[in-house]
Amino acid sequence: MNILILGSGGREHAFTYKLVQSQKVNQVYVAPGNAGTSQIAINIAINPTDFLAVKALVLNRHIEMVVVGPEAPLVEGIHDFFLADEELKNIPVIGPKKDGATLEGSKDFSKAFMTKYGIPTAQYQSFTRESLEEGKTFLETLNAPYVLKADGLAAGKGVLILESLEDAKSELEEMLSNQKFGSASATVVIEEFLDGIELSVFVLTDGKSYKILPSAKDYKRIGEGDKGLNTGGMGAISPVPFANDDFLSKVEEQVVKPTITGLQKEKIDYRGFIFVGLMNMNGNPYVIEYNVRMGDPETEVVLPRINSDIFDLFEGVANQTLDQKEFCVTTETATTVMIVSGGYPEAYEKGKEISGLDDVDQSIIFHAGTKENQGTVVTSGGRVLAMTSFGNSIEDALSKSYRSIKKIHFDQMYYRKDIGFDLTS
Ligand code: AMP
Ligand code: GLY
Repeated sequence: MNILILGSGGREHAFTYKLVQSQKVNQVYVAPGNAGTSQIAINIAINPTDFLAVKALVLNRHIEMVVVGPEAPLVEGIHDFFLADEELKNIPVIGPKKDGATLEGSKDFSKAFMTKYGIPTAQYQSFTRESLEEGKTFLETLNAPYVLKADGLAAGKGVLILESLEDAKSELEEMLSNQKFGSASATVVIEEFLDGIELSVFVLTDGKSYKILPSAKDYKRIGEGDKGLNTGGMGAISPVPFANDDFLSKVEEQVVKPTITGLQKEKIDYRGFIFVGLMNMNGNPYVIEYNVRMGDPETEVVLPRINSDIFDLFEGVANQTLDQKEFCVTTETATTVMIVSGGYPEAYEKGKEISGLDDVDQSIIFHAGTKENQGTVVTSGGRVLAMTSFGNSIEDALSKSYRSIKKIHFDQMYYRKDIGFDLTS
């Protein structure tokens, strides 16, 4: 079977790494991919949201399954596009249709969904330009800090957490009246602040049954001690030590089951990943958000821990036989540390030659923003490499990731030296 993976980050390299291990997979294509995927698969330089280009590729290369990495093609309806096309309709797409992707594409929709199906989440109300004054009045009923969320996709920047009521009111006005995030903030969700520790749980579903994948914790801030600007993620750890059996069974009963049955009741035929962003508050889970894809860099620790054939699981998703599939996870801990371009998440330079990649033997290097340039590998993005290692403990795995990173060099490279700092003694 030939498979196409859409995307170009560390997440997609991790998918590729797992899929090429499957006996049932013939050739993996990645569009557009990076310098890491090109070593084990074939990269094709097309944009995943150019659906006609994706169609041409699928037909030319006899692709029999498409796995969608990022949210944009899903929210724009790539799965619906396949189903509506005579030549593509029988090719399974791993990832929800537009209706399911709204769980990520609209915070207002996902909050209403959680409320309707009794899924624990922060209390909230939504406002538009017309109800700006009511929004300000609602803010007065809450305690600081204040959480404002642009309803639509805003490149990960649409959530503001403000300490003062005055700032919250003026930001609300900026979002609603001055379109701070464009049309994404035409509606704004205001919600209560949840005080706890964050983690993520990932679910793979065929719409009927589900598998709960390993939990992970992501380190989102650029600076050590979780300081500074938000990034796509600077490192991740799986499993999460405080997500014990008791907590995970609450997640399954209070969050995963009602989410799957809620989707069924809404007649949303969801086949793909659900990334559940959670806050652990005194041992109880609250949903912060849903994403309709895997996380990055969480995938770089979650997928390597899955021992089962990932293609077999995807086939189960496509045929709605996921409940019959074997699912095994290693008890070992996996950690990943992101190596980024100096300056990220603000302006940074690209095109820096990376050395030492072949010297790493104790870790798996997942490429993110890299490309090949005349026989060398150069940087091409903010997040460049994810250094994943296994160990018997977080400390053990992290020490391997950090030893491996010492072998890598490029001009102005940066990484956090304290991934896992809050989980280790
Ligand atoms: P989101 O895009 O909804 O995941 O929000 C981005 C980040 O903002 C989350 O990862 C949390 O760290 C934080 N956040 C979002 N909602 C809340 C909330 N209600 N209480 C506390 N922190 C939140
Ligand atoms: N690492 C967070 C995300 O993928 O959204």
